[in-house]
Amino acid sequence: MLTFRMIKSLTQCLRGYRSSGLRVGFVPTMGFLHAGHRALIDESVARCDITVVSIFVNPTQFGPNEDLDRYPRALEADHELCRKAGVSMIFMPDAGEIYPPGFQTHVEPGPVAEPLCGAVRPGHFRGVATVVTKLFAIVQPDVAFFGQKDFQQCAVIRQMVRDLNLPVEIVTVPTVREPDGLALSSRNSYLDPADRVRARCLSQGLLAAQVAYGEGEQDSQRLLAIARSLMNEVDQLQYLELRDARTLEAVQGLVEQPAALCVAATIGPTRLIDNVLLIPPPTALSDRELELVSHVMGRQATAGAQGSPPL
Ligand code: PAF
Repeated sequence: MLTFRMIKSLTQCLRGYRSSGLRVGFVPTMGFLHAGHRALIDESVARCDITVVSIFVNPTQFGPNEDLDRYPRALEADHELCRKAGVSMIFMPDAGEIYPPGFQTHVEPGPVAEPLCGAVRPGHFRGVATVVTKLFAIVQPDVAFFGQKDFQQCAVIRQMVRDLNLPVEIVTVPTVREPDGLALSSRNSYLDPADRVRARCLSQGLLAAQVAYGEGEQDSQRLLAIARSLMNEVDQLQYLELRDARTLEAVQGLVEQPAALCVAATIGPTRLIDNVLLIPPPTALSDRELELVSHVMGRQATAGAQGSPPL
């Protein structure tokens, strides 16, 4: 496994592999890797000849009062996880390599970035879209892998790839969960033991709504009420919303097309997000929707923890 800090040496090395026709998979991360990242890496290693993992805590996607300075870091453990998983290259630039003096161009996503986290974290998706575009330009992967837990991030990146004709396939890998349902996240490390217990209620609410939907409840308001009724242990519910799984437009009335039930909440000082998909039975879906479902669902993640229950 090779480690690169400089763009030039990484691109030189990758050029050699690409010219031999090898398929390059890419897993962009901010480090502090866990089984959720491992599921992305495993998917890349299974599908591609070369897997590149980037570790870069991107300053432009953090707001002024957010956790950039205290974002958890564990470089040695990250290397170990990557080595064991069969990663070919780690790219870990410093901020000056990605944003050199004089940097001034940004990627501004459209309406898909406005609701949910976009409303609570102004500028966040502009930072994500900019750094992901730069990383795609540097690595030039055939396929890039993102976790379903960051559902809006996946939607923003898919839209950006379509709009800008970026030559990369985007694969979304299902959320990996702790045995009690909590979605894996680097930010779970901020939770003290009491907050960790309270954090369970997010996935419990989402999964209860998903089960109700599977049993025939289609009314969006009743599904939201089921989820909300189990989430009363959070300190602040920033949003709990049902959104169209592709456009992220709000779903009103009956859930008849693939939808995402998305939540963001604070528990003590920690902000967590999570989501589940509500997918109508295959016979009710058009070919376009079936294609979306197969992209979004991928295969269920089982790496040491439980994935979402099959729909
Ligand atoms: O999901 C993340 O870890 C980050 O948003 C990403 C995609 C690596 C961009 O900084």
